[in-house]
Amino acid sequence: MRDPFIWAVATAAYQIEGGRETDGRTPSMWDAIREIPGRIKDGSSKEMSCEGRKKYKEDVKLIKSLGVTHYRFSIDWSRVMKNGKTRNPTGMEYYKDLCRELRKEGIQCIVNLFHADLPLDLYNEGSWLTEEIIPYFVQFARYCYEELHEFVSIWVTFNEIRMHAWAGVVKVEGEPFHSLDIDYKKFLGEVSVARAVMVASRNMLLAHAKVYRLFHEKNDACRVGIILGGHACFDADGETVSSVSERATKSMVHLYLDPLLHPSNDWTGGVREYLGEDLPPWSEEEKKLIKNTVDVMCFNYYRPHIVKEGKGPSLVEQIFNFTMVDDDWPKIGGDSSWVRLHPQGLISLMEGLRGKEGEQKYPNVPILISENGVNDDPSLNSLDDTNRIRYIGEHIDAILEARRRGVNVIGYTAWSLMDNLEWDDGFEVRFGLFQVNLESEEKTRTPKRSAEWYKKKIEKERREE
Ligand code: NOJ
Repeated sequence: MRDPFIWAVATAAYQIEGGRETDGRTPSMWDAIREIPGRIKDGSSKEMSCEGRKKYKEDVKLIKSLGVTHYRFSIDWSRVMKNGKTRNPTGMEYYKDLCRELRKEGIQCIVNLFHADLPLDLYNEGSWLTEEIIPYFVQFARYCYEELHEFVSIWVTFNEIRMHAWAGVVKVEGEPFHSLDIDYKKFLGEVSVARAVMVASRNMLLAHAKVYRLFHEKNDACRVGIILGGHACFDADGETVSSVSERATKSMVHLYLDPLLHPSNDWTGGVREYLGEDLPPWSEEEKKLIKNTVDVMCFNYYRPHIVKEGKGPSLVEQIFNFTMVDDDWPKIGGDSSWVRLHPQGLISLMEGLRGKEGEQKYPNVPILISENGVNDDPSLNSLDDTNRIRYIGEHIDAILEARRRGVNVIGYTAWSLMDNLEWDDGFEVRFGLFQVNLESEEKTRTPKRSAEWYKKKIEKERREE
């Protein structure tokens, strides 16, 4: 008998909490980013928020109303460790109480340790460019484990590790946003940007593995995962995988999967010949450390990429010699949305991990879809979000069908519980199942049609499972 399917909804600390100065919280890099004039597209003030820190008890009721089995949330490192380094019990108490509230409602926790935001001091000290950050991350993780482990069903170390390494540390050409402008040469000397990105990637992978080992020492039955962006790449028809689309997927997905799960536990051939000297090597000891440190492989999936040969403008396209081209998949979140409806892309990505003709390329690690969703379509009344119902509905059906065919997918997570800070876009790009009225003192939450729909869908699928 397989474990029951996980039905989840997700948020991330910085995107919903507010309460920048509550609990003795210390500044984070996203606090600083939001102070840069003109940086956040909707011009929202640095204090604007959904006030999730204040309203968590009410929010747990919303989560309960969806009928989900799990809630995925992240812990704000800057709230639980002062300046990222010293334990702050007041901040931790908030997360403990959140977990207690969830437990009262019978909801299990998927806890994500790092979701895009770093304590500002640690950013200024070199972010993920230096190995010095690793013990601080381990300390933070250890504290979370000690205080919260009894509540947690699945731990996740990093959200979208690739996205953070390429867009959250140094300024990289063509990535959707960059963080603060760290002078990486101050920490690494005269190296290329690609080298800086790969050093950051390597340090994050090492930090992930150290936390994995630590948690398993404490309890070998715990489950620890990592989240990758589901960057499945195809040729123009959205199905064919030729050498260029295979290479593109390798550059964004397998680059991170291979050191953890490929039998070589190393960067593999597919990326080596392109990144060459920019790939920092692994020692034999490090390879042992990172080997198979994934109990649950998590993917966030919003769209596939259509690619063709020839260097596009972004760094990753330049290095790996491909160009991402706009595609014809339904733009289901309105004209300016980057989300596309193409569930088959996700299914092919998952099936691709099994190798050709069912041969297992990577260990058969359970897969969790840790995010999937679409922004409101501006041409619809936001409470009548039929586009979201169609989008998540088609993904859920495709995922459940793949599970019936034997793909080892164990759960689905809708992004997001409520409208929230969509990073550089501010609050005007809204992914919530619940609408948040930011103008109101109470930051009132109102269910959209999709909230009711998701509840019914979960009920139906659980009855039939
Ligand atoms: C993935 C990120 O994890 C999340 O923070 C973001 O809001 C969604 N994508 C939508 O862009």
